[in-house]
Amino acid sequence: MNLDLTGTHILSISQFEREHIDLIFNVADRMEPYAQRKRVTRVLEGAILGNMFFEPSTRTRVSFGCAFNLLGGEVRETTGVQNSALAKGESLYDTARVLSGYSDIIAMRHPVAGSVAEFASASRVPVINGGDGANEHPSQALLDLYTIKKELAAKHRAVDGLRIAMIGDLKYGRTVHSLSRLLTLFSDVKVILISPKELQLPEELVEDMRLAGHDVIISDQLEDGIGHVDIAYSTRIQEERFASQEEADLYRGKFRLNQAIYTKYCEPNTVIMHPLPRDSRSTANELDNDLNLNPNLAIFRQADNGIVVRMALFALILDVVDHIDLYSRPVGWYVNRRSN
Ligand code: CP
Repeated sequence: MNLDLTGTHILSISQFEREHIDLIFNVADRMEPYAQRKRVTRVLEGAILGNMFFEPSTRTRVSFGCAFNLLGGEVRETTGVQNSALAKGESLYDTARVLSGYSDIIAMRHPVAGSVAEFASASRVPVINGGDGANEHPSQALLDLYTIKKELAAKHRAVDGLRIAMIGDLKYGRTVHSLSRLLTLFSDVKVILISPKELQLPEELVEDMRLAGHDVIISDQLEDGIGHVDIAYSTRIQEERFASQEEADLYRGKFRLNQAIYTKYCEPNTVIMHPLPRDSRSTANELDNDLNLNPNLAIFRQADNGIVVRMALFALILDVVDHIDLYSRPVGWYVNRRSN
């Protein structure tokens, strides 16, 4: 097996073997002093990330940019189709040919499934899929699993043997699509898929997890499903993927998790995750603010982990892992970031 990720596109979790995941996570661990601002490195000084987000994003776009900056590189961005020449009819092919001449690596999000792969096929530099429609979000799945691994390790547990509930819009939620694929690389996983019947996880993803030997249960009842899991992974109704707002509104607020439900139905140490953004409007409120002080709410630790995982991807793809510490020094400014 070729473990070398130098120069590769990251388009789908399907391209990885378990050894790749171990490698990425080991490099991510080494990024902690830089992410925590204990040291700085200039290993990517002179390199440019093209951060091309043709669909709304807060944390994926900014954390890709921060991760590249933390390695010493610079970031150039475009946000939204309307602010790019795609709005004038330019093709993905031409856009990729041009932008890959300006950058050493590109992170891209686009509303159409398969579009990032199409862009990558024309790109002269590696491309990382930051989310293509309802298809995949591989870097999110990696940071999700990295979070699961760390949260379980604190309880002396491993990912093998994991019990996880995935909750919400499993049909259009690309983060659960990528995470489901990722879980097939592990063993003895119990997966409870909680969604409205119309928003169930695509059948081929369910089948792949069953072929991997996992116990997969499909349910439309939140309270029954979250009773005996290590991780309750909530997701937002992906209203931007529905044909109409009225259709999306049918499902909004169906699976609300709050402290009272957590206390009544979950085991005391169940970790609550969400790829974010959580929809905090009163009609949705899928993860209530009254969970904010629950120490098992891992959503902000999860978002923080996006930095080290994305730093690891950049370092591996641009082949600088062995040089990071050579170009590093302690920071000279005041650091006091409270842990959550
Ligand atoms: N999790 C995630 O993809 O968040 P953004 O849409 O803010 O990038």
